[in-house]
Amino acid sequence: MKPIQLKEGVYWVGEIDWDLRNFHGYSTQRGSTYNAYLVIDEKITLIDGVRPYLFDKMMQRVSSLIDPASIQYVISNHVEMDHSGSLPLIMDVAKNATVLTSPNGQKGLLAHYKRKDWNMNVVQMDEEVNIGKRTFKFFLTQMVHWPDNMVSYLVEDKILFSNDAFGQHIASPERFDDELYFGIALEEAKKYYANIVLPYSLQVKKTLDKLSSLPIDMIAPSHGIVWRSHVNNIVTEYNTWASNEPRNKCLIIYDTMWKSTEKIAHTLHAAFNHSGIGTKMINLRHNHISDIVTDVLDARFICVGSPTLNSNMLPTVSAFLTYLKGLSPKNRIGLAFGSYGWGGQSVRHVEEALKECDFDLLENIKFQYIPDETQLQETYEKVRQEIGGKIDS
Ligand code: FEO
Repeated sequence: MKPIQLKEGVYWVGEIDWDLRNFHGYSTQRGSTYNAYLVIDEKITLIDGVRPYLFDKMMQRVSSLIDPASIQYVISNHVEMDHSGSLPLIMDVAKNATVLTSPNGQKGLLAHYKRKDWNMNVVQMDEEVNIGKRTFKFFLTQMVHWPDNMVSYLVEDKILFSNDAFGQHIASPERFDDELYFGIALEEAKKYYANIVLPYSLQVKKTLDKLSSLPIDMIAPSHGIVWRSHVNNIVTEYNTWASNEPRNKCLIIYDTMWKSTEKIAHTLHAAFNHSGIGTKMINLRHNHISDIVTDVLDARFICVGSPTLNSNMLPTVSAFLTYLKGLSPKNRIGLAFGSYGWGGQSVRHVEEALKECDFDLLENIKFQYIPDETQLQETYEKVRQEIGGKIDS
């Protein structure tokens, strides 16, 4: 278990979670890492931690550099347990350490661990803490991802320890963006943004504005690889994602019972595609909702279809819509569609869910039993006409 040097005296000492395939409902097919960092200066400082079951491995890396009892500061950028879960174990070893955290971080850590005996210093926005030859500057980044979040900037080394922001769930032997195929890092950063950060895009914008004047050599997040060769690229992508200005891309998201709803889905695909809009078919039986919302991040048109089952939509569709609403994408255009045998309530339920997402809506489409070729052709022409005025040039 070797540490990896970021710059002289600054090391990655985190751990790789090769087997992680689910992060509170988010499918993490590439695994993940929990990135802790160690800065060796007059006051040795540990930044964040790992899940408790990986604590021993993290400490092997730390112990190869210093005596863990000599750690004087532990920066807790975020209370969520993937980062703070091992803090009680760390504080048992680094008995003289002081925890540096935000005001909400202090509340959260006390609520989680009930350890009033820990030395804890609360840092405020823009506050600086000197550790010897180096200085940390702290920026409170409330709601990126929890109310307690902050980022820590190491002034002399120009490293931003950004915690969840700019993270990606990737388990890999590579630690830097220029060691891994860039497309993988970007794809996983996009998925991470869509599933974790999207609801807080306004706060992300504010954070990006606040940090824009800093010279940054490296962004060292708490998950995945460290950005050092593509810092500007990932900051630009974050600005784009946070702006909630999707492009002319359409998703046809559906489940089907006897393929009638699927016939409508294919008709919609043709209508959007022939209107010059890149359109993707997404069957909820075969696609994970966390991958679907990754596509939602840059898609303006979101069509959702379900047949009626027991007066409602199919559970797969309901689960997706619940997840979508929570992530709160803005500036989207929705369309509800589906088939039914009798009753036909599913389309109304889908449409209500899309309204709750604050989407503008196109006229819904529903057919009893099996739509015939004439009905599908009429649908194709109606949809093409309706979307004609909605395509951004
Ligand atoms: Fe990686 Fe919000 O925790």
